[in-house]
Amino acid sequence: MSAEYKVALTFEGADRIDIACRADEDVITAALRQGHLLLSDCREGSCATCRGFLVDGDYDQLLPHSPHALTDAEEEDGIVLACRLRPSSDLVIDFDYPADRVGRYEDGTRNGQIVAVDRVADTVARITVRTNAAQDPFQWEPGQYLQITLPAVGATRAYSMANTPDGGRELEFLIKLLADGRFSGHLAADKALGEPVRLRGPYGQFVFRGEPRPVFVAGGTGLAPVLAILRSLAPATEARLVFGAAQESELFALDELRSLRQTLPHLDAVVTVERPTESWSGATGPVTDHLDPIDPTRAYYLCGPPAMISAAELRLLAAGVPRDHIHTERFLETGDQQP
Ligand SMILES: Cc1cc2nc3c(=O)[nH]c(=O)nc-3n(C[C@H](O)[C@H](O)[C@H](O)COP(=O)(O)OP(=O)(O)OC[C@H]3O[C@@H](n4cnc5c(N)ncnc54)[C@H](O)[C@@H]3O)c2cc1C
Ligand code: FES
Repeated sequence: MSAEYKVALTFEGADRIDIACRADEDVITAALRQGHLLLSDCREGSCATCRGFLVDGDYDQLLPHSPHALTDAEEEDGIVLACRLRPSSDLVIDFDYPADRVGRYEDGTRNGQIVAVDRVADTVARITVRTNAAQDPFQWEPGQYLQITLPAVGATRAYSMANTPDGGRELEFLIKLLADGRFSGHLAADKALGEPVRLRGPYGQFVFRGEPRPVFVAGGTGLAPVLAILRSLAPATEARLVFGAAQESELFALDELRSLRQTLPHLDAVVTVERPTESWSGATGPVTDHLDPIDPTRAYYLCGPPAMISAAELRLLAAGVPRDHIHTERFLETGDQQP
């Protein structure tokens, strides 16, 4: 049996939560096991969301992580990634956010049914799931996601809600169709309408933090949580959106974006296509070509394929945007992992 250590988590040097952490588990997982959802996104050392300061204690070596999330020099200064840290002694870790941002992890499971599947682009489907009337509707924050299990194919995947929580039982998802995808391939083959699903969550910290003049950058179905956030913004918000797809035939939700301009009159939306046909008259190139003018005082919300996010993040950091102004949701391949 693995050794177990006491880990004191403090928040802005003040409020404190004590957890136990085994030598063979990371701090985020241990906290989750004990009902505390610390700020974290990727849980694999690439997003930097879980950074904290090691006030006291030891560990042997952080689990593999990206230098973009934590450099060796930062680690020498005591910064750690909680999702990559397994203790070898009792620890004290301080996080640079208030304790009220720590969520309570509750095993919220619901049953539901796929009540609509609409092809909205060559490679994208909008699915509507209705949860069981005998269970309370889900409550979530725009930007969060659920783990959806499709028993017909025995696959569980993470998908972000594109609609806003209104107390109802309908959930809207925008899903990229991969012909050989266990989950999305079943949708692509038109076999999913009417099928039962199990849903668990909500999860995720890709939620709007209320900054003035936010900028949203979405690649492909990365638009789903961004749409949910945009749909919930106050009308006076001066927001910018850069939405990109590889080809015009992969664009979707353009009508929604047009109607959002009515409710958000100060929304500046750029839709860009990487490989346009001759008939395309809009912006061209990857989303990273449309970040200018980069303003380090604005908050940036990036969602979509991991490579797109890393490229955008590098550009923003190089232009002087502080790391804590950049919020990311990487659509990592979820495979059959459970949170
Ligand atoms: C927090 C989070 C939220 C997410 N939200 C969404 C969402 O709102 N909409 C959405 O479409 N996806 C989303 N994803 C991704 C989603 O969970 C699945 O990983 C994805 O749909 C593939 O599942 P699948 O069963 O169809 O394919 P799999 O059977 O898992 O994979 C099939 C093949 O496709 C490859 N592959 C997997 N993902 C991709 C990809 N994105 N592009 C190209 N090839 C790929 C695999 O390597 C494999 O070869 C999210 C992921 C995370 C972590
Ligand atoms: S959650 Fe730890 S680096 Fe992403």
